[in-house]
Amino acid sequence: MTDQIQNKSLKEIDQLFHMHGNTSISMLNATGPTIMDSAQGMRITDTDGNEYLDSIAGLWCMTLGYGRNEIGDVAKEIIGKLGFGHTFGNSTCESTTLLAQKLVTMFNSTVPGASISKVFFGNSGSDANDTNVKLMRLYNNLRGKPSKKKVISRTGAYHGLTTLATALTGIPAYHKAFDAPVEQVVRLSTPSYYRFHSDGETEAQFTDRLISELKDAIAREGADNIGAFIAEPVMGTGGMFVPPVGYFEKVQPILEENDILLIVDEVVTGFGRTGKMFGCETFGLKPDFVTLAKGLTSAYAPLSASLISSRVWDVLQNASEEYGPIMHGFTYGGHPLSTTIALKAIEILERESLVDNAAEVGPYLIRKMQEATADCPYVGEVRGIGAMLGVEYVADKATRRPFDPKLGAHKLVAAECAKAGLISRALPYIEVTNMAPPLIITKQDADECVELYIRALNAAMPKLAEMARQSETQAMSEASPAFPNSLNGCRTLA
Ligand SMILES: Cc1ncc(COP(=O)(O)O)c(C=O)c1O
Repeated sequence: MTDQIQNKSLKEIDQLFHMHGNTSISMLNATGPTIMDSAQGMRITDTDGNEYLDSIAGLWCMTLGYGRNEIGDVAKEIIGKLGFGHTFGNSTCESTTLLAQKLVTMFNSTVPGASISKVFFGNSGSDANDTNVKLMRLYNNLRGKPSKKKVISRTGAYHGLTTLATALTGIPAYHKAFDAPVEQVVRLSTPSYYRFHSDGETEAQFTDRLISELKDAIAREGADNIGAFIAEPVMGTGGMFVPPVGYFEKVQPILEENDILLIVDEVVTGFGRTGKMFGCETFGLKPDFVTLAKGLTSAYAPLSASLISSRVWDVLQNASEEYGPIMHGFTYGGHPLSTTIALKAIEILERESLVDNAAEVGPYLIRKMQEATADCPYVGEVRGIGAMLGVEYVADKATRRPFDPKLGAHKLVAAECAKAGLISRALPYIEVTNMAPPLIITKQDADECVELYIRALNAAMPKLAEMARQSETQAMSEASPAFPNSLNGCRTLA
C-alpha cells in the first residue's frame, strides 16, 4: 500500500482509491478529479489555484455561503460538550428537541393551513423520502387499508438515490441497471409546459391534460391501491420545471377525494430557495409529509427532517399501545452536531433576511439571464423562481426541437462555464443548465454570473451550431421515456 501511494499526487491517490458519486468512471479516469481547497461566500478555489463563482451553491445546498465561522464555533462547542446523541427510545439532546420545535413552529406559522405535528430526523434527503413512504405504509396498515401503498411520482422528478428513492425518482439515467422497485410507483408525465405542450395548446389546457392523466391513473390503479403522491414544488434536478398555471390547485382536491396523502419534497425548495421560506407557501400546498434537507443546515452538516402532519400522527399515536415501538431510525439521525448547526443556520437565515434577498436578487438574475440570451438561437427558455433558474437549450428555437440527447449540448456549456470560472450544472434529464446560488448573492454577483455565463455560451456557439445540424431529425422527447431498470438496453459484458 505504501509503495502504491509513495510519490503520488493527491489527484493520483484520488483516482486510485476513491469512487465518486454520479460520475462516469471512464470520464474520471481520463480527466482526473478537481480538488476543491477553500471557499468563502460564493467563491471556491481548487488545489490548482483556479477560482470559481459557485452559481449552484454546491448542490443547491450552501444557502448561507461558504466560510461561516459562527457555525464552526457552535460545532466545536457541541463536539466538546456532548459529541454524540441519538433519538432511539426516550433519548434525545437539547439541540435536537429544540430544532424539532423550531421546525414545527416555523412551518405551521408560514404555510397557511399547515398542520404539522412531529419531526423525525435522518441524514439525507433520500432517506427522509424513504421514511415518509414507510410512514405512509404504516399509517395505511394501521387504518386497515393494507393495499393502499403505491406512490404517484412524475417523470423528471428527483427524490434521491436510496433504493426506494431511486424508484420514486423519475429520471431514466438514475435507473439504468439498478433494478429499483419501480412496481411500487405510478408514473405521470413531466409538468413542463415549455418542453411538453403540443402545438397550439395553452398552458391552462396543458395543465388540464396533466390533471386528466392523474384522474385516469387513479381510476386505472384504483384509489385503494394508492397511498401517496410525491412532488417537489418546483422540479429541480429534472430541469427547473415551475408547475404550470393552476396545477397544484387542481391536483390537491383530487388527492383529498381519493384519500391519497401528499408528500412534499422540499429538499431543494425549503429554507428560502423559491423566495419564500417554504415552497408549500409559494404554491399553497397542504402536505401530509414534508421532506427537508440541504438548506436545513446550509449543508454545513448532513441532516434531513421528515415533517409529519397531525392527520398521520394521530393514527400512529392512537395505535401505539397495541402496535408497539415503531422500529425505524438511524444512528446519526438527530446527531447533536447537525441539529446544533441547523439551529444556527436557521438563525442566520432569519437574522440576515436571506429569504427576502432570494426574492429580490433571484428574479434579477433570471431577468438578466433572459435579456442576455434573448438573441441566442439555441436558448429556448430561461425560467425560474426565486433563486433557482434553468436555461433550456434547443436545436431549433421556432419549433422547440431538442438537441440529440447523445450530444450533450448542455454539458458542453457547463464545461465552458468551468473554464470561464463559473460553476453551473448540466442537469441529467434534458438539456438544461442550472443555477441556484447561495441566498447571500448580491446584484453584483448576479451580474458576474451572467457575464461569465455569456462568455462560456459564446465559446460554445460553434460547437452548438454543429450539434444543431446533427440534431436535424430529432423528434420531441417522449413525455414518458422508458426506465432502463434492468440490463435491457445496456451492453452486457462477456
Ligand atoms: C428534491 C430532492 N429530493 C431529494 C434529494 C436527495 O437528497 P440527498 O442527496 O441528500 O439524499 C435531492 C438531492 O438533490 C433533491 O434535490
